[in-house]
Amino acid sequence: MLTPQLNLFKKSNPILGTVLSNERLTPAKGEGKRPSQEGESAIHRIKIALSHDLYPYLIGQSAGVIPPGEDQAKVEKGSPDTSYAVRLYSIASPSLSFGKTKDSIEFIIKRDNIYDTEGNLLHSGVCSNYMCNLKPGDQVTMTGPAGKKFILPLADFSGDLFFCATGTGIAPFFGMVEEILEHKLIQFQGNVYLIYGAPYSDEIVLKDYFESMAQKHKNFHFIQAISREEINPFDGGKMYISHKVKELASIIKPSLESNGRVYICGGPKGMEKGVIEEMRIAMNSSESYEDFKKSLESKDQLFVETY
Ligand code: FAD
Ligand code: A2P
Repeated sequence: MLTPQLNLFKKSNPILGTVLSNERLTPAKGEGKRPSQEGESAIHRIKIALSHDLYPYLIGQSAGVIPPGEDQAKVEKGSPDTSYAVRLYSIASPSLSFGKTKDSIEFIIKRDNIYDTEGNLLHSGVCSNYMCNLKPGDQVTMTGPAGKKFILPLADFSGDLFFCATGTGIAPFFGMVEEILEHKLIQFQGNVYLIYGAPYSDEIVLKDYFESMAQKHKNFHFIQAISREEINPFDGGKMYISHKVKELASIIKPSLESNGRVYICGGPKGMEKGVIEEMRIAMNSSESYEDFKKSLESKDQLFVETY
């Protein structure tokens, strides 16, 4: 039986990983579909060498990163510890890493920057920019693994899995798709529906991988919602993943009645509400949103990690 290990490394006793590669997955500013007055979406795939014996994880768990340097807000307050707080990143590689080799861990990280209405940089996120600037050979100070709920079934499973992602929320599902369909650490009989939302079609990262998996596995369904290119057929507004969930209503009802699971990951915080509400409507539930959510969670059918 697989069990998630928790907080083997903390801020007081972190582990060091060595960067193997850092690849930008989205177009450079002004080169893709995003107009330059909307700034840029810089999403990177970062691979770090890390012993799986020392750092055993299950896909869906997160790793902590401690950015180097001093937190100026803490310095100004005169705090005794001026180091930065730990930032969490979903582990994007399956438990055996891609290619079934061990001893590496991958992340999908977006520079968390804020732009003005003309696309000029206003604020830069500390840790996400530190990570996206890393070069092979650099060392990263890490904690974790963290999180014990947002994981795949730990024993053989026959229900359907609905993976709902926006933006970098795709990270855990990259590894989960690989693990459940290719590595097969548990017996799985069901369908996987990956519903993935991004602002522009060229910001759907790892598209080739997901399309090839959909070709290879009849039970894997790759569904995209491109908010700034497509309009939804319900109110003519932006296409969000909740609208794709609405379109799947007739599949969702029997799936959730027979043990199906829903995983929701990404940002903006609160985006899960539309998805869960569409699930509630699909189920013809008379419960309130809150009761419906709690009841799915208590039956291990709903897992939310939004940030
Ligand atoms: P911070 O420096 O903490 O800044 C936060 C925000 O404030 C940024 O948008 C920054 O631009 C803005 N800001 C900075 N200065 C100012 C200012 N003066 N005024 C106004 N705004 C300002 N992220 C991923 O990319 N990939 C993942 O897989 C991922 N997984 C996660 C998993 C979990 C469980 C959680 C909780 C979060 C996850 N995140 C992930 C988010 C991640 O942890 C960080 O929150 C994110 O990278 C921002 O951290 P930062 O240090 O870059 O930004
Ligand atoms: P938009 O920003 O066009 O409103 P990213 O993190 O790369 O910005 O991607 C997040 C994606 O989630 C975007 O396509 C964004 O659309 C979309 N989004 C924003 N709010 C919601 C919501 N409430 N429900 C579903 N998707 C959302």
